[in-house]
Amino acid sequence: ALRGVVALDGPSGTGKTTVARKLAAKLGASYLDTGAMYRIVTLAVLRAGVDPADSAAVATVARKVELTVGTTPHRPLARLGDDDVGVDIRTDRVTAAVSAVSAVPEVRRLLVARQREIIAGELAGGGGIVVEGRDIGTVVAPDAGLKVFLTADPAVRAARRGAQDSAAGRAAAPETVRASVDRRDRLDSTRAASPLRPAEDAVEVDTSELTIDQVLVALCELASRRG
Ligand code: C5P
Repeated sequence: ALRGVVALDGPSGTGKTTVARKLAAKLGASYLDTGAMYRIVTLAVLRAGVDPADSAAVATVARKVELTVGTTPHRPLARLGDDDVGVDIRTDRVTAAVSAVSAVPEVRRLLVARQREIIAGELAGGGGIVVEGRDIGTVVAPDAGLKVFLTADPAVRAARRGAQDSAAGRAAAPETVRASVDRRDRLDSTRAASPLRPAEDAVEVDTSELTIDQVLVALCELASRRG
């Protein structure tokens, strides 16, 4: 079983979430979806009727949010207060607002602290954890034993996102999906606070032409060498 941290970063549509969960299950490790945490705060912001662009108001909501995320790879639970929000945090409304919310430094400060606590809790028991996000290798867990940065051609990423959306009953026109994926990546990569970028010591894996299983094989191989 894995000991220590595997940091898995990259933009959306790279297969990151699927790969992270499968990798954690395979390595007998826990799993932390940090994107879900930013999404829960975003849902709280929208439910409070706060403008996602109003950083001060967003920070106030973030300080009060009671969020829970599970660390079981098979059943990653997400709660806002007592509500199970696993479905609500994936809606277009949340997806469209999450980059603005996650660019607020106070939101990042609170969530990074929380993420480090969760990681420390898992490691204290001698276990391992696969952590996925945008800034895991650079900010949250700079000492991770293995850092992977997944990439894929933008057209491939948009196609994957589109397929995921239709499977979840939210089909949209390909141009719309492409525009939404491009917009979110641009916002995430250009923000001042912890922008999306590979850590210097991250292994970059281009998943454009790989199946999920092929990516998984490559990561298991890397984990067994460095994990
Ligand atoms: O991974 P997911 O698509 O669910 O992430 C949603 C959003 O949360 C990202 O587009 C990004 O704005 C933000 N995020 C982040 N830092 C992380 C994880 C996610 O800023 N570590």
